[in-house]
Amino acid sequence: MVDLLPSDPAGLPEARRPARLDLSDGATLDLTVTPVAKSLAGTTVRMLAYNGSVPGPTLSVRQGAELTVDVTNHGDLETTVHWHGLRLANRFDGVPHETQEPIPVGGAFSYVLRFPDPGLYWYHPHVREDYAQELGLYGTIVVAPAEPDYWPPADSDVVLTVDDLLLTDGEVPPFHHERTSHAAMGRFGTVFLTNGEPEPRLPARADEVLRLWLVNTANARVFNLTLPGARMKLVGGDSGRVEQEEIVSGVLLGPSERAVVDVLFERPGSLTLEHRTPERTVPLARFDVGGAPPGRDLVGRFELLRRAPEFAAERSGLPAWIDAAPDKVLALVARMSGGGEHHHHHHASTADGIEWEDEMPAVGSDAVRWLFVDRTDGTDQPVAGWRFRVGDRVKIRHVNETHSDHPMHHPFHVHGAGRFLVLARDGVPEANLVWKDTVLLRTGQTVDILLDLTNPGLWMAHCHIPEHMHSGMMFGFTVEG
Ligand code: C2O
Ligand code: CU
Repeated sequence: MVDLLPSDPAGLPEARRPARLDLSDGATLDLTVTPVAKSLAGTTVRMLAYNGSVPGPTLSVRQGAELTVDVTNHGDLETTVHWHGLRLANRFDGVPHETQEPIPVGGAFSYVLRFPDPGLYWYHPHVREDYAQELGLYGTIVVAPAEPDYWPPADSDVVLTVDDLLLTDGEVPPFHHERTSHAAMGRFGTVFLTNGEPEPRLPARADEVLRLWLVNTANARVFNLTLPGARMKLVGGDSGRVEQEEIVSGVLLGPSERAVVDVLFERPGSLTLEHRTPERTVPLARFDVGGAPPGRDLVGRFELLRRAPEFAAERSGLPAWIDAAPDKVLALVARMSGGGEHHHHHHASTADGIEWEDEMPAVGSDAVRWLFVDRTDGTDQPVAGWRFRVGDRVKIRHVNETHSDHPMHHPFHVHGAGRFLVLARDGVPEANLVWKDTVLLRTGQTVDILLDLTNPGLWMAHCHIPEHMHSGMMFGFTVEG
């Protein structure tokens, strides 16, 4: 018999909706992992929850605050918590065996967190994310800025996680105890979950500006979010505000990326947050919009587009960085065993370099090894031994190769050693800068980033598709203090 992780929801408490917790400087929070039952899509499945809810609670904190989180593990496997996007002390980064021993079932660990940057962050385990994050272990963190007018004015806000869960015949296909499955594509879901629910209804008003804090918590799926009948203004990304506020028709989020979007509904009524691919449109959430249509003043205020002064110096330095030779060159490649008979067939949906759906049968797909190959100085070795110093700025070129055995998109994520700017994608200078911790690399794309290193320690960089990460797409690098 194969050794499978538990899947029976019988007798478990039903998952609750996430709480939003206002946590003051110096506060302590208890965060407990337990299994829960979740009713959705006409069935009941066993999931995992932080403090009984899927997603876990939203932590609301102020920039510069300190928070202690006492994590207790009553889940199925050992665990850790990774605080995604926070620049933090290395020993609280939650990487098993590298920054801490994993928390055994029945065990506990205390994390001490500081929040140097405003914006939207999130947390999830760093042990078997392919299983634990897929089944509900993720939650959000909203860091309020110290500077009063950091964000444009908004009247209300809502945090939305967008995700998908794979169900086959009303059941979650089993997870193996020891190893990941779906190693080629990552586990694409069939049921779309927004804040843990299929198509939740959310209240809104047409005479107000609503801020959406958006994060993609899916394993592998890229989301293209639109809200027909509303104006959308992009105000922030992974870590804080954008260089230039911008009216947009939608936002594209790779796994683990964030966007902060202000919304002005054109009129009251029922509007749908949608995920749009070249081939289909999926409803994710419904806004029940009340109030009067927006007046001229409100529209005028909404359409004011501000520039963030902290990016002026970065913008003027950009051409020199774009011209500079990369300090490091990374190629993203797949190697399949079995003589290449699993070669991926290209579909129309991949013309833009994004795999919108799982086009590959799971059969045979677990023979894949994913690699970051170091091409700096013409070498062709797995990445090893990168060392930098606090204060360094490192230009890294990513080449997402199409002639690898299985080309696809990869969301490249760097842990809290610092943060980065995207310099250029396929040689095109980035039009609107924002500090990032994850960048979506489309198939065939070359993306240059400028990594700004601020925190010492041993840090991870990896593809945020957990099935890829657990199949080789992760490396550590050292930042000396
Ligand atoms: Cu959200 Cu190591 O990742
Ligand atoms: Cu990947």
